[in-house]
Amino acid sequence: AGTGYYLRELERQVPVSAVVALDISKFALRRAAKLLPDALCLVWDVWRPLPVVDESVDLLINIFAPRNPDEFARVCREGGVLIVVTPLPQHLQEISDVAGLLNIRSGKDDDVAAALTPDFTLAASRSVEFPMTLTPEDVQNIAAMGPAGHHGASVRMDTLPERLRVTAAFTVQTFHRRRKEDSEKSTPVR
Ligand SMILES: C[S@@+](CC[C@H](N)C(=O)[O-])C[C@H]1O[C@@H](n2cnc3c(N)ncnc32)[C@H](O)[C@@H]1O
Repeated sequence: AGTGYYLRELERQVPVSAVVALDISKFALRRAAKLLPDALCLVWDVWRPLPVVDESVDLLINIFAPRNPDEFARVCREGGVLIVVTPLPQHLQEISDVAGLLNIRSGKDDDVAAALTPDFTLAASRSVEFPMTLTPEDVQNIAAMGPAGHHGASVRMDTLPERLRVTAAFTVQTFHRRRKEDSEKSTPVR
């Protein structure tokens, strides 16, 4: 869920009966809880069993975050939807050095699909790219979010232009939960 930004947009645009927001960061979730007063916001490690009963979820969204394919498959009802957004190599490329961002390898979306397709089918995949104009403060915030931020590194604001044009580039993949009998997971031979 991060800070709840995308869940809030979702709530605005589609009727939702119940929202569960998970993130390992209590700081992110505090912000999410303020944005999403009706949601259940839980500090949770996605690698643990998810706090949701089997086949109870209509829609899962996972944006620039780790995925637990087996747990996503367990909680998603048959025919339910999983939306995964992953960055493309050119995402924020113009500032990756200055902000200490990790290089994004190509083919990440293919790896995501390969990990999910035993239980999900890929229904649609769309690459999106657009320019953004950032202020020095935006760039500093991005640096603080990245690995360099953990080591206390910061970008010198006075070395940055007033306005920096950078690329946003990511893939949006939509998956449908397969019927259990159609799962591609091999069943043990007895
Ligand atoms: C790049 S942020 C994206 C957040 C949000 N999806 C968004 O786009 O605003 C990645 C998020 O994954 C969370 N995260 C990292 N590892 C996690 C884990 N093992 N379990 C749950 N959340 C995790 C981080 O705390 C962070 O909020």
